[in-house]
Amino acid sequence: MTDMTTSPKKIVVLTGAGVSAESGIRTFRDGNGLWEDHDVMDVATPEGWARNPKLVLDFYNARRRQLKDARPNAAHQAIVKLESKFDVHVITQNVDDLHERAGSSQVLHLHGSLTEARSSCDPFEVCAWEGDINLGDLADDGHQLRPNVVWFGEEVQAIPKAIRLTSAADIVLIVGTSLQVYPAASLFAFAPDHADIYYIDPNPATNYETRSRESMIVIAETAATAVPPLVEKILSSGDVG
Ligand code: OAD
Repeated sequence: MTDMTTSPKKIVVLTGAGVSAESGIRTFRDGNGLWEDHDVMDVATPEGWARNPKLVLDFYNARRRQLKDARPNAAHQAIVKLESKFDVHVITQNVDDLHERAGSSQVLHLHGSLTEARSSCDPFEVCAWEGDINLGDLADDGHQLRPNVVWFGEEVQAIPKAIRLTSAADIVLIVGTSLQVYPAASLFAFAPDHADIYYIDPNPATNYETRSRESMIVIAETAATAVPPLVEKILSSGDVG
């Protein structure tokens, strides 16, 4: 006997700061090397944390407050629709929770999440967090809490899972990323040869080392403009099983 049931095709959506730009959250590299007026080295490195933990906490507290006022945009919402016919995994470099709030059910945060805190001594001592983190707020292990964000120079714990998911994808959507930060930027190269790859970004990167530009379809438009029609096109292609 043969099992005639087919499992749904797999889609991996790789997102960066650009997918949240139209929700009012600023990207990293569109601000002359500054992130919300701060040098990234001051607020996104272990060295910056060691130098001035209060500055770092204040910075992420402001990002967390800003997130409360932000809403998912048409791109986040369109990505959710893909789940009606496909097995969809969102792999995001973003620390916001706009994919979850839009309704995506499988979201992997490569660079951590603003809605979590962790021990400053143990990356696995993580807890859910709302509101500000202040000096003196301690993890269960007795050490100061810090945002559960992966800083430059720190290990990206989620990468093995992200590689596994991308290696199994039939379709890959890359949305709103400058493809400059590794290992995230190299993920799409793990997609199988048969996978269709789309890259949506109004200012798409051109310097990929890992896969030739010809092998992906580049759509040089904003996420909220280009993702909804692309999602409709994929859903209506009939090529779902
Ligand atoms: P970048 O700031 O490097 O790139 C943002 C990308 O979004 C650029 O390619 C823009 O052209 C594009 N963009 C801008 N507006 C857009 C829109 N409306 N729609 C679609 N795309 C738009 O951000 P990332 O590539 O995400 O790491 O940066 C990667 C990592 O670098 C971040 O996760 C962060 C940062 O340092 C950490 O914090 C560890």
